[in-house]
Amino acid sequence: MYRPSPYEGLQTLFAEGKKLSDKERLAFAYGPLLSWYREHKRDLPWRKNKDAYRIWISEIMLQQTRVEAVKPYFFRFMEHFPTVEALASAPDDELMKCWEGLGYYSRARNLKKAAGVIVEQYGGSLPNSHEKLLDLPGIGSYTAGAIASIAYEIPAPAVDGNVLRVLSRVCGSRDDILKQSTKKKMEGLVSEVIQEGEAGDFNQALIEIGAIVCVPNGAPLCDSCPFYTVCAAREEDLIGEIPVKTPKKKRKIEEKTVLILQYGERIAIRKRGEEGLLASLYEFISVPGKLGSEELSELFDEPITPEKLPEAKHIFSHVEWHMNGYRIPITKIPSRLSGDRPEDFILAEFEELKDRYPIPNAFAAYKEFLIKRFEK
Ligand code: ADE
Repeated sequence: MYRPSPYEGLQTLFAEGKKLSDKERLAFAYGPLLSWYREHKRDLPWRKNKDAYRIWISEIMLQQTRVEAVKPYFFRFMEHFPTVEALASAPDDELMKCWEGLGYYSRARNLKKAAGVIVEQYGGSLPNSHEKLLDLPGIGSYTAGAIASIAYEIPAPAVDGNVLRVLSRVCGSRDDILKQSTKKKMEGLVSEVIQEGEAGDFNQALIEIGAIVCVPNGAPLCDSCPFYTVCAAREEDLIGEIPVKTPKKKRKIEEKTVLILQYGERIAIRKRGEEGLLASLYEFISVPGKLGSEELSELFDEPITPEKLPEAKHIFSHVEWHMNGYRIPITKIPSRLSGDRPEDFILAEFEELKDRYPIPNAFAAYKEFLIKRFEK
């Protein structure tokens, strides 16, 4: 069991029955937190050195996915785009293929845009200024703080949802952590205590506590926590109530029928439009609504024998897709489905579905069906 040694001055304050301020809680735990981090930090690929480019890419990937899931993406991305210059001139389809499965594709597009700015304005190195980092496309206060502190030791806060959970528990704060004002307040608090020279370790220590001690799901491991002595939520038995998060609005539900149109050995796909959800990625042909096989046959210029596929669901931040699907062998391109952009209707070979065209995870169930069916 990890118990920090008594913090300087803390016992006097406790003995006098004084309630600690938020800043005192963080300041008292500062040393033990850093020692804990240096002893317990995970060995992660983006921690091998302080290269700002690697840190940037990892932080963007980690915004949407768990550490273990990010690792293979991170290695692959670094292989394809080892430098800012390589990323700035990345072919869009190759970039999206590398991102396929991570979701939030606008993040990958912003990476490329920002890489262009970094090459043009900063000679290919990420600027070592919090403000200049914040100005880059796709970099918000958390990411700017993470890069500035981890790569350059600039004492800037890096407060994401996980760090907010830790800090609101330590401070016993019932402020809604989804509110911008709460984040601003906690960033202010971190700014008051973070020290030059240890900024990277301090921010990563908070991240690490959020990941492996004060965990998002399930009971926190308070007995192993360097905040144990100063944590208000532990002391007042408020772990179950903090952090406070107001429920989000309900997502809109969209039903659709996914059609795996099989033309000989090839499968029909199409490129999505340049704007909106999953812009410029590739998808199987689909139609709105959950259609039965009777309704389907009206869409084709020949008799069809649809094979029913499993239903699937994909949850985006604001919408849910509820899908049913069919595999349908065809010998003619169905004019009603190739629609108004026939040039975007592609008959792709099976190998190209795997290696060439970025197809978002929303279609994973149907892509997996094809892999099982066709992989030799
Ligand atoms: N989550 C967000 N940033 C992280 C980092 N640098 N290391 C581990 N997990 C993280």
